[in-house]
Amino acid sequence: MSNSTHWRDQIVTIDDRGREALRSAAVLAINSLQRPLLRPRSQLSPQQVREFIWSRAICTEDGEDLASVLEDFGENVWANSVIPSDPFAVAHLHPPTLLPSVVTDLTVSASNQTMDSWDQSPAATEVELHLMSWLANMIGFSTTGSGVMTSGGTASNVLAMTLARSKAAAQSGHDVLRAGLPSSANRWRILCSDQAHFSIQRAAAQLGLGRDAVILVPTNASGAMDLAALDVTRGDIKSDGLEIIAIVGTAGTTDIGAVDPLGDIALRAREDGAWFHVDAAVAGAFLLSNNLRTQLDGLSSADSVTIDFHKLWWQPFNASALVLRDQADFDLLRVTSDYLDRGDELEGMINLVGRSLDTSRRFDAAKVVATLRTLGRVALGEMVDRVVEITNYAASSIEADPVLYLVAPSSSVMCVFSARGAREDDLRRVQQQLLARGEMVLGRTIIKGQPALKFTFMNPLSSESDVDKLIVSVVKELAL
Ligand SMILES: Cc1ncc(COP(=O)(O)O)c(C=O)c1O
Repeated sequence: MSNSTHWRDQIVTIDDRGREALRSAAVLAINSLQRPLLRPRSQLSPQQVREFIWSRAICTEDGEDLASVLEDFGENVWANSVIPSDPFAVAHLHPPTLLPSVVTDLTVSASNQTMDSWDQSPAATEVELHLMSWLANMIGFSTTGSGVMTSGGTASNVLAMTLARSKAAAQSGHDVLRAGLPSSANRWRILCSDQAHFSIQRAAAQLGLGRDAVILVPTNASGAMDLAALDVTRGDIKSDGLEIIAIVGTAGTTDIGAVDPLGDIALRAREDGAWFHVDAAVAGAFLLSNNLRTQLDGLSSADSVTIDFHKLWWQPFNASALVLRDQADFDLLRVTSDYLDRGDELEGMINLVGRSLDTSRRFDAAKVVATLRTLGRVALGEMVDRVVEITNYAASSIEADPVLYLVAPSSSVMCVFSARGAREDDLRRVQQQLLARGEMVLGRTIIKGQPALKFTFMNPLSSESDVDKLIVSVVKELAL
């Protein structure tokens, strides 16, 4: 610790002294936020970034002055970071954030509630429950609907698959939490589309079912699950003596933004006695929009829904939710503990650890609620409409371009495209060179075997002229 600083001054207290210390430190932190010289990232090579970062000691014997630590962060970390609010940062579902959420995050850290037990987060527990109940209502669930905040879409999907697995076991009278998988588990299958997020396979792998238990159903030209193919797959599975324990629909696929036919899938899941999960990590935000909401018809028939607030709800990482149609299903997960969730709490106290795979957990609901209250649904819906509008503009510009063409129809906030005569190496070079020079963070993927470049529009402030510039830059780079 530097001579001028004592550890006593570093403890955040909620009193006049603590608030004043926090205010001064927050000003220093805000002033340290720096843009790279070239947007949307600096032109430093991976080796140079490493050298810069590793040249600073992680921990010195006597500490440093906070002002100089923050200044150094500004010069080394923030100046060499990606700027998600830059219109040329278009690779991923990586959004700029909103003022209410960012400042609320500071108070969340300062007050440091943890969501595992009521006695560590009395009001925060009710805030999260209130938010989950609002979200369940937006989805169209009845009053039995509720959820839990998780660290991301992957965690929400893994939690959903965990519940689906436990439910399948419970239906055959087996307690999977106590006894592990029953012998019949090697016949269990999970169905999702060939465009579903890889976290579904990851979940199956982690749950002991194995990745091969996930059967990928072919998609149509728009990237949505093909119902005829789904029926063929279901027929094959049953005639092989296997059991479908879950069907996963995706609302907004990662690369194409496609929304599966949720209502039709729900009917089939019901018929098969399978859990119906919808991964709405991307298009869940359509719930906010008067224009796009109908694309989610059928969502209310799901048993569970993943919603990622840290995508098109513009929240800082981490913020996701898994919402259940019937919150009683969380009992499939519950493990009591002598010190935390004893089961003999005062009336009305809820320990959210019973709903989560985490124990200690951040109060991420606060920033979401601060955002919803400040902006309101209409403004947030307009923001979602705007990014979809920009995406549609980019798609028609690509279609009209003599060099570029769309690899799949564009929907939600993604455009996947290639160039006439371009090989995979050409696309790789374009993406890597633009990134290396810090000029553009461009996406690259493979759609049904075809290499493609990808724009993902997460910034409602992006303009049509930004899109024109993006396309010009890509075409120019292709010609080099
Ligand atoms: C459809 C979908 N589901 C899940 C995820 C995983 O989300 P996270 O990165 O928050 O774990 C993504 C990530 O892009 C996604 O596109």
